[in-house]
Amino acid sequence: MLQKFDPRNETIQVFIKDRLYPRSEAKVSVFDSSVQGGDAVWEGLRVYPEGVVCLEKHLNRLYESAKTLAFVDIPSKEFIKKAIQQTLDANGMTDDTHIRLTLTRGEKITSGMDPRLNQSGSCLIVLAEWKPLVYDNTSGIKVLTSSQRRNAPQFLDSKIHHNNLLNNILAKIQANVAGKDAGLMLDERGFVAELNGSNLFMVKDGVVYTPYAHACLPGITRATVMEICKMNGIDVKEKDISLAEMYNADGVFATGTMGELTPVVEIDGRILEKANPLQLEILKLFKQNIKKFCQPLNG
Ligand SMILES: Cc1ncc(COP(=O)(O)O)c(C=O)c1O
Repeated sequence: MLQKFDPRNETIQVFIKDRLYPRSEAKVSVFDSSVQGGDAVWEGLRVYPEGVVCLEKHLNRLYESAKTLAFVDIPSKEFIKKAIQQTLDANGMTDDTHIRLTLTRGEKITSGMDPRLNQSGSCLIVLAEWKPLVYDNTSGIKVLTSSQRRNAPQFLDSKIHHNNLLNNILAKIQANVAGKDAGLMLDERGFVAELNGSNLFMVKDGVVYTPYAHACLPGITRATVMEICKMNGIDVKEKDISLAEMYNADGVFATGTMGELTPVVEIDGRILEKANPLQLEILKLFKQNIKKFCQPLNG
């Protein structure tokens, strides 16, 4: 599934460091750490009229990622919230909006990896775009297992939500070449980790399973699904899941802020049922409850 250009995004305003710029002028320096080494952290946020879904959890994860990478001048949450509000106001956005919130280590005095070369502070980018859910959550997606493993903590901890996304991009390229929608990534032991840009759940015999967050991003939508299941008496467990178990599941779905909950209808040519009653129930409960997880920017 390839996203298309939305003409409403042609003239959007983008917040960079301390002010808004029109899209055509929204740029970072060639000396910025994100250009030099993918040295940045990010969050994807979804905006509804009720607020930003799980705003505090996203800001906490941004902070934890930045602290892990030893960023020294992380803007305050108040500053970030104001920058988001300013950007949404400038674009007249209250719904159907996705925000790519990025914090780079900032501009370097000369090219190089050393963070000591970053002497002008970090750089916050608020890129808000008109972007309804990116997948067709009715027909679902087809995925292909990639030869590219998802990072486990001994390589680069997947708990850091960083901009060094090349292992996931390689998995996505393999899926593209095969005409599939996403790459399924295994961990270094061969258990299922996640899709290249979203988490995975499996329904089997009335129980909902998801891989441990050892080698996947501990997704915020993943946590919301687990919470909604628990609130509704649905048995949900984390476990090591093999591909054979996924192929033989009663249902599989992906979770993420960009697409919310998306049925997976094929893995490596094995067809999966998308009308499993428990899976349909979870998708329905998520839709009914997601706005309760919205938090206002001025809260
Ligand atoms: C690799 C990866 N997995 C999963 C997710 C879903 O995470 P969330 O539910 O927090 O959007 C993302 C989103 O950025 C991601 O990049």
